[in-house]
Amino acid sequence: MITVNFETEVNKNQIREILDEIIADPMGGWATLPNNFDAEELAKIKQAAVEIKETSEVLVCIGIGGSYLGHRAIIEALRPKGVEIVYAGNSLSQRELLNAINEVGDKDFSINVISKSGTTLEPALAFNVFKQKLIEKYGEAEAVKRIYATTDANKGTLHDEAVEKGYTRFVVPDNIGGRYSVLTAVGLLPLAAAGIDIDQLLAGAKEMMDDTTSMAQYASMRHILSGRGYDTEVFASFEPATMYFNEWLKQLFGESEGKNRQGIFPASVIYSTDLHSLGQFMQDGRRNLWETIIDFPTDEMNMKIVEAVKKAHGAGGIPVLTINVPTFDEKGFGELIYFFEMSCAISAKLAGVNPFDQPGVEAYKLELKKLLN
Ligand code: PA5
Repeated sequence: MITVNFETEVNKNQIREILDEIIADPMGGWATLPNNFDAEELAKIKQAAVEIKETSEVLVCIGIGGSYLGHRAIIEALRPKGVEIVYAGNSLSQRELLNAINEVGDKDFSINVISKSGTTLEPALAFNVFKQKLIEKYGEAEAVKRIYATTDANKGTLHDEAVEKGYTRFVVPDNIGGRYSVLTAVGLLPLAAAGIDIDQLLAGAKEMMDDTTSMAQYASMRHILSGRGYDTEVFASFEPATMYFNEWLKQLFGESEGKNRQGIFPASVIYSTDLHSLGQFMQDGRRNLWETIIDFPTDEMNMKIVEAVKKAHGAGGIPVLTINVPTFDEKGFGELIYFFEMSCAISAKLAGVNPFDQPGVEAYKLELKKLLN
């Protein structure tokens, strides 16, 4: 189980109240999910993954933000041996879209289009393009069988189209928001198709759920540091394959905490690569940041550099927190996901902001709509 190696004066009653609030929140469904995952839904996900493996060499995963970062983080880290995943719909760049189309080439493929709202522009455009490709290659009837839509249970453009055409549908539960949804069908279907053991992932999350002490400690520490003027948290990993896990973390914390002119700015580094780019700043630059080392089990050589960095940065005046991850596998990542989701929700509550909304994301969408008429 994940441990953290720092102590804080946690106000246990306050944390208890916050935990109760999170669980009772209309958007807090993820907090108890590992304990009461719908067995039928899980079986349906596994069945669809088998189907995808039988019919396709590639699964095109279309989604943005919380609808894509979590599963990409795990797939990039663990490099499973199942169906190849090609990502699309996470930008409006035509160049990226063409790259994705070229990656698929003439391989057999299916699509998993993921959008809770079912109206987000980036994935909607990419979906239209790949759907056309699917129809051209397989014809309309077969194309329908190769589209898996993960979206709201009742509403949204994607929901309506999926019902009308008869795509296989998976539901993003009403009580779980995008960035907390990796352990729902949003993440589990692409993960299972890619060859990840999703039972182990859920088992890891469940283990963390049973003891939230370390999450309360970490969240309290963040709160204390932020109160002392540290406004930037740098997530540091020494495993290059976890770059997308850092991206998931930045989205989780950034969208959950950055509101009402508040929040801790989430940044990230991969060492030792970034010791040769941001290392100077970390050692010697402005002292408004702290470092949270995600310490994955690693080889002896890499362990030495973890120690060296902790010592050097500590001496340079950076508070260094360490999160010890016991295993670099599905279980370890299941633990990490729950650990960070819960820590993030507690932190946001300690800061007095709602961890589960993202009103600021709408602003660019409105401007874009105006520009696109
Ligand atoms: O965490 C969130 O809610 C967001 O990052 C969403 O996941 C992202 O905006 C994509 O939204 P949707 O799944 O509705 O397309």
